[in-house]
Amino acid sequence: MTVLALETSCDDTCAAVLDREGRALSNVISSQLAHEAFGGVVPEIASRHHLEQVNAIVEEAMRLAGITLADVELVAATRGPGLIGALLVGLSTAKGLAAARELPFAAVDHLQGHVAANFLRGSEPGDVPFEPPFLCLIASGGHTLLARVEERDGFEVLGRTLDDAAGEAFDKGARMLGLGFPGGPALQRLAAEGDPAAFSFPGSPGELRRGAPRKAFADGLDFSFAGLKTALLYATRELSPEQLSERGPDLAASYQAAIVQSLASRVERALERTGLARLAVGGGVAANGPLRERLRGLDVEVHVPDRLLCTDNAAMIASAARFSEQLPYPEYLGLDAYATGEGPG
Ligand code: KG4
Ligand code: ZN
Repeated sequence: MTVLALETSCDDTCAAVLDREGRALSNVISSQLAHEAFGGVVPEIASRHHLEQVNAIVEEAMRLAGITLADVELVAATRGPGLIGALLVGLSTAKGLAAARELPFAAVDHLQGHVAANFLRGSEPGDVPFEPPFLCLIASGGHTLLARVEERDGFEVLGRTLDDAAGEAFDKGARMLGLGFPGGPALQRLAAEGDPAAFSFPGSPGELRRGAPRKAFADGLDFSFAGLKTALLYATRELSPEQLSERGPDLAASYQAAIVQSLASRVERALERTGLARLAVGGGVAANGPLRERLRGLDVEVHVPDRLLCTDNAAMIASAARFSEQLPYPEYLGLDAYATGEGPG
């Protein structure tokens, strides 16, 4: 069936159309740049931008796909988790579009969307959907999740972050080092000139080399980046501005290595525990070079969807919708959004 999907859970206004075979006919993403000056996403600004842009983005997605609303057979939108005001814009718009033609509706969990990005065909010739079973690592600015995917309509959470998301750790670290937002790419560039073992951060090669005691949660599958962030803060405080700029590359390299180690060690452990031999990686942090290198070095088949499908987009929501419950009109009109990862509750 032809699916029109919307995604507005954070700061990207997204709409996409999938054809009956599940190919993306369009995947429009409008990123909001207004947040850069604040060093992070401002929820109220995000909602307003979504409201201003959403209709034009939906029109554009249908125009690029060469269809009109009359061709749409299923409408979908992200229901949560995310920023509640932002989610409500996409969810309400999508419900309105579906109701106008009494179409069925699928309310999609954002993380299920990231998982379902793997079921899409990429743009490279020969790209084929990555089918379950697989282990899935999703690491972005908003979430860090390790999931066991056995079916196309769900996943089992094996680990998640106890505090910051991995991308957030990159962004906050980059800010401490005087780099812009989002900080991941800039931190990676600075780190390329540094020594990853120069500083002894929790989980970094420097700490492991010095034989420091392992942290209490280190044998589990959950993630935590708060201690690492504090360690970087203390390290920067001890340096003068001149020393800081001189040691910047070493700090960035050690900090990045600790994040990569935290992600990769849990992936390795989860592969071992589940016996899965295939790994999918998604979220903006999947673009990180050293992380990709480390994961590609594992003795498993690794799938990383196209960059546009890895970061927030609506094609992944449409993909999840194909395998989700589809509510007939008018059962979905009362659906509400949910902000946290706990689900509709
Ligand atoms: O999935 P995504 O585009 O969006 C949201 O989470 O909303 O992820 C963005 C995150 C940011 O935290 C950014 O710093 C991080 O992904 N990121 C990276 C890299 N590229 C993007 N982190 C590390 N290395 C990168 N090359
Ligand atoms: Zn996301």
